[in-house]
Amino acid sequence: MRKHFTAGCIALAAVMFAFSFAVIAADAPDTISIKPALWSELTKGPVEFSHKKHAQEYKVACTECHHKYENGANVWKQGDPVEKCDKCHTEPTITGEKKLSADQQKLNLKLAFHTNCIECHKTFKKDHPDTKAPIVCAKCHPKGDEKP
Ligand code: HEC
Ligand code: HEC
Ligand code: HEC
Ligand code: HEC
Repeated sequence: MRKHFTAGCIALAAVMFAFSFAVIAADAPDTISIKPALWSELTKGPVEFSHKKHAQEYKVACTECHHKYENGANVWKQGDPVEKCDKCHTEPTITGEKKLSADQQKLNLKLAFHTNCIECHKTFKKDHPDTKAPIVCAKCHPKGDEKP
């Protein structure tokens, strides 16, 4: 009896485990080659981003990267439609973006990606010095270099 109960639990757990993956896989793509339509060409080549690993293996919440602000608060929640970053971050400058006004910088597309990706990796590296989370250009950009 006890044995059956245990086996039942394992089977149930296995089903739930598979289901949770199916749910995440259904609404979050595995790997994304990020090529925003706002830029006609990429000077550094498209960044390959392991979307599924970030969400599952590294356990980064969707809301760390996806948002919709209302009165200064992020009201986006899992299950809501996901817009591409350049739907809202429509300021296209890729060099000299430091000269933009603070408001323009918030909507600058390159800064949106860099702030999101690199700030988290830097914070993570403080507690995990051996992390593989990249901070240097060439580790994210196939045609990258070390100069900003
Ligand atoms: C570490 C950051 C990060 C996390 C965590 C993350 N995403 Fe994403 N997601 C992205 C980026 C970047 C894109 C590509 C956006 C673009 O191309 O403009 C994307 C794209 C998507 C897309 C495709 C949108 C489209 O129109 O192509 C969906 C759907 C999505 N994410 C859902 C999710 C869900 C659901 C979660 C949580 C389970 C999640 N994401 C977690 C960064 C993240
Ligand atoms: C629905 C519109 C919308 C989408 C889609 C969107 N953003 Fe934003 N994002 C905003 C707005 C508006 C702000 C400014 C909020 C404020 O005033 O503080 C912002 C702020 C940010 C900030 C902070 C900027 C700063 O200097 O304070 C980062 C980083 C960022 N977004 C990254 C991203 C990334 C990466 C994506 C795609 C995965 C994305 N955003 C998708 C609207 C959006
Ligand atoms: C909120 C935190 C967070 C954000 C945002 C984030 N990452 Fe990461 N990233 C991580 C962590 C944690 C790891 C894994 C570190 C480890 O295990 O050593 C990682 C690892 C990586 C790696 C190396 C391993 C792999 O999965 O390929 C790449 C490349 C990467 N991230 C790219 C990106 C890009 C591009 C973005 C922005 C679109 C991004 N990350 C946004 C936390 C984040
Ligand atoms: C953690 C990953 C990451 C690091 C590190 C990083 N970038 Fe990016 N960068 C991105 C993402 C994601 C985008 C937007 C998607 C894309 O361009 O494929 C982007 C976009 C860009 C763009 C605009 C698009 C293009 O290709 O012309 C430039 C220029 C750029 N980065 C330069 C740099 C430079 C220079 C460095 C080093 C100082 C650097 N990046 C470091 C992730 C990163």
